[in-house]
Amino acid sequence: MYPIFQLGGPVTGKDFYGREGVLRSLQRDLVDKGMRGYVIYGARRIGKTSLLMEFKQRITANKKATCIYIDVSSIHPFTLERLYDTMFIESLKAFRPKLDMWDGVKSALAGSATAFSEILKNASIDIVVKDYLTIKFRLKERKADLQELLKNALTAVEKYSERSKTRGIIILDEFQLIEKMEPKTLWAFRAHIQNWKHAAMIVAGSEVSFVEELTINKTAPFYMLFKIENLKPFDKKTSENMILDKFKKLGMHIEQNALEKCHDLTGGYPFYLQWLGDAIYDQKPKKIGIAEVVLAFRALLKESEVIFYSELERISEGEKSVLIELAKGRKRITEVAKRLEKPDSTVAKFVERLIAKGYVIRYENGYKLVDNLLAGWLALTY
Ligand SMILES: Nc1ncnc2c1ncn2[C@@H]1O[C@H](COP(=O)(O)OP(=O)(O)OP(=O)(O)O)[C@@H](O)[C@H]1O
Ligand SMILES: [Mg+2]
Repeated sequence: MYPIFQLGGPVTGKDFYGREGVLRSLQRDLVDKGMRGYVIYGARRIGKTSLLMEFKQRITANKKATCIYIDVSSIHPFTLERLYDTMFIESLKAFRPKLDMWDGVKSALAGSATAFSEILKNASIDIVVKDYLTIKFRLKERKADLQELLKNALTAVEKYSERSKTRGIIILDEFQLIEKMEPKTLWAFRAHIQNWKHAAMIVAGSEVSFVEELTINKTAPFYMLFKIENLKPFDKKTSENMILDKFKKLGMHIEQNALEKCHDLTGGYPFYLQWLGDAIYDQKPKKIGIAEVVLAFRALLKESEVIFYSELERISEGEKSVLIELAKGRKRITEVAKRLEKPDSTVAKFVERLIAKGYVIRYENGYKLVDNLLAGWLALTY
C-alpha cells in the first residue's frame, strides 16, 4: 500500500498540504512581477524542499516558467567549479531538452579535448554552450578564473530564459553549505543577477545566521535584491486538515479535540505531524481521541533521540543546561539562573546564543523552545 504518512523526503502533489500563501507570493513576485530572487529559510525539516519542488511542479505545469532545481548538498565533494558546472548542465537540460550532442557536452565538461573541439566546429551548437566550454578549457590552462565560469553559468540561465520566452528560475537548495564561498563570489552573484531581465534565483537554507549575513545587513550581498521568506510551522487549520484527510484515506475517524491535540503537541511542524499520525496508526486504535494521541506522542518521544542527539552537538554544555531548564517549563532568566546556581547575566548570554541558533524564542514574559518535540524529549530525558 502507498504510505499515507510520509516520513522524510520531500512531498508534492496530493501529498502536499498548506503553504498556499507563500506559493502565491513566489508566483506573483518571481513570475508575474519579474523580481529577481528569494531567500527561503526555516528550521530543519520544516518543509523547504517540499515547497520548492511543489513550486517547480506548479509553475512548470502552467508553462510560463522554466525551473531548474539544484540541491547543493548533492554535490560531492563540493567545489565552486562543480557547482557552476551543475548550474550550467541543469540549465541546458531544462531549456534545451533536445540538445543534440548531449554526450559531447558532458565529455567536454569532464575535460575531453576532442569532444571540446567537435563542439566548437559544430555550427548548430549555440554560442552560450561554446562560451562556457571555452572558459572551462582556459580555466584548466590557468588562463581564466572561476569568476568567469560563474558569469557564463549565470548567463546561460538568463539567455535561455529570454530565448524560450519563459521566466527561468534557478533554485539552489541547501545554499548554506557553500561555506567556503567568499564575499567576492557572493558579490559576483549579485553583480550578474541584478542585471537579469528574464530570470530569477531562489536560495534556500536552514541557518538563520547565514541568511542574515546574505540579506539583512545593509552591507550584505543580496540586500534589497532578494525577498526574504521565513517558512513557519503549519497553522492550526492546516495541521488539522492534513491529519483529518490522512485518517480519512485510511478509513478512520479522528475526534476534533484529538486533532487539536496533534497540532498543540507538534507545534504544527509538518514532519512531526506526519510522524505522530504514523505513531497513532501504529497502535491500531478502535477510536482516536485525545488519549490515543497522547499515548502515541509518548512513544514517539522515546524514538526521537535519533534526531536530537546530533542536533545538540551544535550547542555548548552551558547552553544545553539552559535549554533543558526552559524545556522543563521555566520561562524567565531569573528562574533558570536560580536553578542552575549561575548569575543572571551568564544565563542571559546563553539565551541570546540559543536565540541566534534558532532554538529559543521570546514568549509571553519569558522564553521557550521553538520546537515542542525537542522540548518534550529534553524534559523526559534529563
Ligand atoms: N507541505 C507539506 N505537506 C505535508 N507534509 C510536509 C510538507 N512539508 C513537509 N512535510 C513533511 O516534512 C518532511 C520534511 O520535509 P522537507 O524535506 O521538505 O523539509 P526540509 O525543510 O527541506 O528539511 P531539511 O532541513 O532536512 O532539508 C516531509 O518528509 C514530510 O513528512
Ligand atoms: Mg531540504
